Parts: sequence; C-alpha cells; structure tokens
Amino acid sequence: MQDLDFTGKVALVTGAASGIGRGAALAFAARGACVVLADIATEAGQAVVDEIVAAGGQAVFVRTDVASAANVEAAVATAVARYGRLDCAFNNAGVEEEHHRLADSDEALYDRMMAINVKGVWLCMKHEIAQMLRQGGGTIVNTASVAGLVGAPKHAIYAASKHAVVGLTKSAAIEYGKKGIRVNSVCPGVIRTAMLERALEREPGWEAALVGLHPIGRLGQVGDVVSAVLWLCSDASAFVTGHQLAVDGAMTVV
Ligand SMILES: NC(=O)c1ccc[n+]([C@@H]2O[C@H](COP(=O)([O-])OP(=O)(O)OC[C@H]3O[C@@H](n4cnc5c(N)ncnc54)[C@H](O)[C@@H]3O)[C@@H](O)[C@H]2O)c1
Repeated sequence: MQDLDFTGKVALVTGAASGIGRGAALAFAARGACVVLADIATEAGQAVVDEIVAAGGQAVFVRTDVASAANVEAAVATAVARYGRLDCAFNNAGVEEEHHRLADSDEALYDRMMAINVKGVWLCMKHEIAQMLRQGGGTIVNTASVAGLVGAPKHAIYAASKHAVVGLTKSAAIEYGKKGIRVNSVCPGVIRTAMLERALEREPGWEAALVGLHPIGRLGQVGDVVSAVLWLCSDASAFVTGHQLAVDGAMTVV
C-alpha cells in the first residue's frame, strides 16, 4: 500500500467517523487524495477531518445518513463542488445486528438493517455512478462482509443485507465496466473496531471463539481491510471488477 499514490484524486468515504471508514479516510488523505467524509456522527467525523488537515491533507466532513437520498446526493455534490470530481468511493457505512435467531427478530430491526446496509449502498452507488459517468470513470468499493459470502447464524438479517451488497456490486460491475467504472466489495472477517467492542460488551468471553474462526490465528485490524480497499481503488487493480475480496484470514475457506 505504501507506493499507492492518490495525488489529485477525490475520494468519498461513508461511515468515515469510526473503524474501517476512519482508517480508509486517513489512508486516502495520507496518499494525496482530497477526502469527503460522510457519517451520522458529526463530532467524531469532524475530528477525523481535523486530524487529516493537521497532517497537511485535504478533507471535509458532510453529515450524512446513508439511508437518506437527499443526504447522499448532497455528499456526492459536495465532493464535486469542493474538489471538482469523484474518483474513488468507499461505501462502508453499516450497522450490525445483535444476536437473534431468525424467528426472534422483528420488523423494525429488518427495516433498519436494510435501510442502512442495503439502501444506503444503493443510494451511494446511484449518485456516485451518475457523477463518474459524467467525468468518464471511477472506482467504487462497497463493504460487504464474510456474512455476504456465507450464512451467519443468529445474524440472518445482517447476512441478507451483506449478500445484497454483493448483488449490487456484481450487477453494477457488469453494467458499467465499459464506462470505465470498476465496482468491487471487501468482505472482512472479524475486525477490531467499535463494532466488535459493542459485540464483546453484549457477550463477554466471545473473543476467543471469534479468533478460533480465523485459520490465520488472529482477528483482523483496520489496516488489513484498508490496504485491500486502497488497492481496489487504485490503478494497480485495473483488471479487477465485480470481485468480492475476502479479507478474513481464511475464515470462509474452511
Ligand atoms: N468490524 C467487523 O468485524 C466487520 C466485519 C465485517 C464487515 N464489517 C462492516 O464494516 C463496515 C464498517 O464497520 P466498522 O467495524 O468500522 O464499524 P464502526 O461502528 O466502527 O463504524 C461504522 C460507522 O458507520 C457510521 N454509520 C452508522 N449508520 C450510519 C448511517 N445511517 N449513515 C452514515 N453513517 C452511518 C457510524 O456512525 C460509524 O462511524 C460496516 O459496513 C460493517 O458492517 C465490519
């Protein structure tokens, strides 16, 4: 990742206030990109912008609920108004599900999960692709999950939402390949972020079992996913599109 250069590129990152999105925003900025950070968490998102600017980078925060069409349209419009274009989009905002067997989950949970994890990614892609078509190309990476590749007991709705992200990714890659737009997903295993901390608070003692799911013998770090995202957004992956890149320490090949 060290030699990837995004100088002169404009990147949009959703869920940029925390975890994987925060790591990606910092990494894009450190490699020369102007970054638009989109999240519902204004204070934490602005703090990431301040960190980027203090290090000499360029970034702006736009308060964005990815489930809102108007918010998403405004975030993409900000990239264009502020920096002139949109080269790389990382559609990463997402929410997890507490442990429920399918028959015990309710409609409100289903609707929230689909609104953020699926409609949010679709809305982002819709507006990003419109801009990328106007300017002649771009790269999009969506955050799916290992739960977008295989079933996830007690997380059926989350798994359904992430399988949907994979469907959006594959279909858009086919539709827009000849237009210079590449679309891929990353499918992380269990990564050490606030999302994991919340899960461990609900279920103390779960960590050892989670480590045991990863043949590589450890959980993932934010940087493990960020490296894959930047590579997929860069010219180094020019012939890779419609791909679901598992960043999972071999979890899904067991
Ligand atoms: N951490 C893991 O183990 C793991 C594994 C696989 C996939 N993922 C996926 O990675 C992505 C990032 O997760 P993370 O682990 O960095 O979690 P995180 O909770 O640290 O960060 C998620 C960010 O998304 C933001 N967000 C939530 N709802 C939003 C909305 N409606 N609009 C805009 N922003 C919103 C939150 O404010 C937060 O800043 C998610 O899509 C998640 O499903 C995480």
